[in-house]
Amino acid sequence: MKLDTITKTKLTTKLISTSFNQLLETDIESVLLIERQSSNNPWTQTQLLESIKNPVNLNYSLIYKSEIIGYLIAMPVIESADILNIAINSSYQRKGFGKALIEHLVQALNKRGVNEALLEVRQSNFSAIKFYLALGFKEISVRKNYYTKNSNDPSVKEDGIIMRLEISTTNKT
Ligand SMILES: CC(C)(COP(=O)(O)OP(=O)(O)OC[C@H]1O[C@@H](n2cnc3c(N)ncnc32)[C@H](O)[C@@H]1OP(=O)(O)O)[C@@H](O)C(=O)NCCC(=O)NCCS
Repeated sequence: MKLDTITKTKLTTKLISTSFNQLLETDIESVLLIERQSSNNPWTQTQLLESIKNPVNLNYSLIYKSEIIGYLIAMPVIESADILNIAINSSYQRKGFGKALIEHLVQALNKRGVNEALLEVRQSNFSAIKFYLALGFKEISVRKNYYTKNSNDPSVKEDGIIMRLEISTTNKT
């Protein structure tokens, strides 16, 4: 068997064992664990619970082998949606799960007639920026000094990069 065939077979097997659920308040422990180990600036439990409870939001958990290994929180408003948070358990990163979550969201947005997804990412979060670029997001603007970079010294700031994904009929499944 050729190497790329083996890789594709592995990926297909992985995606077959993958499912998406609505994120629930009862998932908070799993979500907090992933949030704290995957982010340098983790959301608090209160922030996560408020987003999970907000009925406007689209919130998904990604289940692999019966375990929550990632989640996504997005807020659709009319024809646009803000991706507020996405994270994959660090042991499962670079295996296509983040991409699968975004694709799942895009399908849901498409059905609602939403035509763009927007997000904001710290300038220093190079891996996330590369991830979004690989998925077709484009940088559209910069929010100067938007984030506090160092929690010990609130005067140290960094820029936020605003990125946009156009959701066209070509994304329809
Ligand atoms: C950003 C994040 C969600 C990506 O999830 P993931 O499952 O690791 O990403 P995928 O495996 O689906 O990556 C898809 C493609 O994106 C690009 N990519 C992803 N991570 C990358 C990295 N660290 N460096 C370079 N490219 C990367 C690659 O092109 C990758 O395809 P490839 O692996 O075939 O080369 C994950 O790294 C994460 O949880 N980071 C911590 C939380 C965070 O920063 N969230 C974003 C806040 S704005």
